[in-house]
Amino acid sequence: MTPNPADILRRQRARESAARTYARSFPIVPVRASGMTVEGADGRRYLDCLSGAGTLALGHNHPVVTEAVRRTLDSGAPLHVLDLATPQKDDFTEALFATLAAGFRDRARVHFCGPAGTDAVEAALKLTQTATGRRGLLAFTGGYHGMTAGALAVSGNVAVRAPVPGGAAEVTRLPYPYAYRCPFGVGGERGAQIAAAYTERLLDDPAGGVVPSAAMILEVVQGEGGAVPAPDGWLREMRRITAEREIPLIVDEVQTGVGRTGAFWAVEHSGVEPDVIVMSKAIGGSLPLAVIVYRDDYDGWAPGAHTGTFRGDTLAMAAGAATLRFVAREGLAGRAAAVGARMTSRLDGLRTELPVIGDVRGRGLMIGVELVDPQAAPDGCGARPAAPRLAAAVRAACLDRGLIVELGGRYDATLRLLPPLTITDEEAEVVLDRLSDAIAQVTAQATAGPHLAGRSS
Ligand SMILES: Cc1ncc(COP(=O)(O)O)c(C=O)c1O
Repeated sequence: MTPNPADILRRQRARESAARTYARSFPIVPVRASGMTVEGADGRRYLDCLSGAGTLALGHNHPVVTEAVRRTLDSGAPLHVLDLATPQKDDFTEALFATLAAGFRDRARVHFCGPAGTDAVEAALKLTQTATGRRGLLAFTGGYHGMTAGALAVSGNVAVRAPVPGGAAEVTRLPYPYAYRCPFGVGGERGAQIAAAYTERLLDDPAGGVVPSAAMILEVVQGEGGAVPAPDGWLREMRRITAEREIPLIVDEVQTGVGRTGAFWAVEHSGVEPDVIVMSKAIGGSLPLAVIVYRDDYDGWAPGAHTGTFRGDTLAMAAGAATLRFVAREGLAGRAAAVGARMTSRLDGLRTELPVIGDVRGRGLMIGVELVDPQAAPDGCGARPAAPRLAAAVRAACLDRGLIVELGGRYDATLRLLPPLTITDEEAEVVLDRLSDAIAQVTAQATAGPHLAGRSS
């Protein structure tokens, strides 16, 4: 039976909650997928630069993943056993620990969480609050950590936090070094230095309003925040500042992990050793899996302290172990660094021709292209106002051209490219051709017709 895409879209629109997300921006009905190509029920094919919000390190249905799943199914292994010991869990843990830096691995503990990144964030916050006996949390502007209460409280986006009354924890928001829109109006390396100095002074100010901190949580490259990379030196400063005050450092690698930024774990770029790493998305090889890995001296939990029914899905552990080993064996982090650098450089080169591109940034295959109103005056750092309506029009124009690209960042004005690490050179060129063509067309329409550049409709 050939599904009728229009009927499916209509029925799901009518029955699903108002909170439905990606289905709004991408009204397609995927029926087959392989690598970075997704085929819709209408027969159209798309290059997928969203990759399940950074989940699909190997693209869709990679043979390494499908064979691991098939092998496990054929073996008769139980698919669900709560958190009992299984050969699949043992093998996944072996594969995961092999990816950790030696010093960290030797003293690491893993906790299997409910299968979403947000539950692993909750676990990390709870672990450090239990271990330190403190309740305060340090988090960053622009950060995103998930949708459950604790994870939401440490996220920056006011639009998603504001409608939820109350709040689980006392959170101090610190400035993230976002060079293009520097919180101090300075930008560059200097802006990051000021952000670090401000953090240190605030923590030591007895009247600064900061309650004793159970943890600092950060992303090495902010994902939903618009592919904003933090300088390595700033991260080293955060490590020094937290270590000197005995505050555990939680690095949220839910989106940056498994090679995406050009290192297996993004924190490796800086040489920093965190206390807790939060992992999800790619570690399950397309299937739901989330864990925290942390230093053993924080393991002060009582049995059942962070329990849950779906903590370690057998198929996800098999697919995840196969993915972790493949990424390591094939050197895909290095490949992400090389292809990402080429893509970023070509995009950067388009800025003169397409002045709507305000900033091109990222690390490895986590790339952000921030669109701005080229006619508006720049601020003191040279940044022009964000152009979210134009960005939404570019996203739609990309879809028309067979390219799936999602938005993120402040005002949803940043096009985020998260292709699989297996993207070929040819696919990377096609992605950039379609993207630049879409931006050029939308810009031309905006210049000729009704103004698309502003923030409000
Ligand atoms: C850095 C980061 N942390 C946590 C999460 C939450 O993960 P999940 O959507 O699986 O709950 C996300 C999701 O995008 C993320 O990017």
